[in-house]
Parts: sequence; structure tokens; C-alpha cells
Amino acid sequence: MLLTLNVNGRKREISISADEYLLDVLRKLGYLSVKRGCDTGSCGLCTVLVDDKPVLSCSTLAVRAQGKRVTTIEGCQREAEKFAEFMAAEGAEQCGFCAPGFTLTVLALMKEYENPTDEEILHYLNGNLCRCSGYISQLRAIKNFMEAEKK
Ligand code: FES
Repeated sequence: MLLTLNVNGRKREISISADEYLLDVLRKLGYLSVKRGCDTGSCGLCTVLVDDKPVLSCSTLAVRAQGKRVTTIEGCQREAEKFAEFMAAEGAEQCGFCAPGFTLTVLALMKEYENPTDEEILHYLNGNLCRCSGYISQLRAIKNFMEAEKK
């Protein structure tokens, strides 16, 4: 079947089989920031945004994104680079393997919540696992980033 997506503002078409997952299709299209971790919907590494909502691309059939807007980290470089600076300032980012999915989830959080509590931030991000750093330094970085983006 022919799948049509809008990826990072660009129309993309690709022939797929009905059982292909969005993760594999996006990587075939060249969006290599989309990472495979657990491949079972548990780690959040493969997170992308579909119509601005975080989804686990390893567990989402590509056909479910037919005609939708998909955002990978390649599509939000300015925000991603700025957020990375805030993460580095708090010592919250180490290997960076989880960063694309983690960053996209933070950007989605910012669209949904104007002033989230710590509990709301942690709850929103509880599907994005990081094996390197402490979640408290990430929480500080997210709050500092959100404050800076309001200015
Ligand atoms: Fe998709 Fe882990 S690779 S949740």
C-alpha cells in the first residue's frame, strides 16, 4: 500500500506492507534520529510526534499515521539544540541515546501544559527511560527550559 505522511513539514510517500511499524518506515525514509531501544513499547526511545502527540513508533503501525503530521527531532532543531544546552547545564544528559524521544516528549508537554507541576512533568515523561542520569536533574532542566521559552 502507498503511505502518505507529512514528516517535518514535507510530504513523503512510501510503499509499505500493512504490518510495518512507523519506526521502520521513518528510518527507511532517512529519519535516523528515531531510535530502536526495547522494541516493545517500554523505553520511549522511539518516540515521535503524530499530530503533536507523542507516540511510540515501535508499537504504532505505520498505516495509523496515514495522512498525518509526523515530527521527528530533525524537524525541531532549534528547540532541540536549546533544550540540550539546558540539559547539559544541569548535567542531565550523558550518552544522548534517549535524547530525541525525550526531547520530543518535552516539546509535546509544553504544548499541553502552560505551568505543569513537578508531578505532571514526571508523569508525562514516565514512558521515557534514561539509563544514564538522574531524573531530578532532568526535571530541573525541563523547568528552566520551559521558563526560558516563555520569555
Ligand atoms: Fe519503542 Fe522502546 S523502542 S518503546
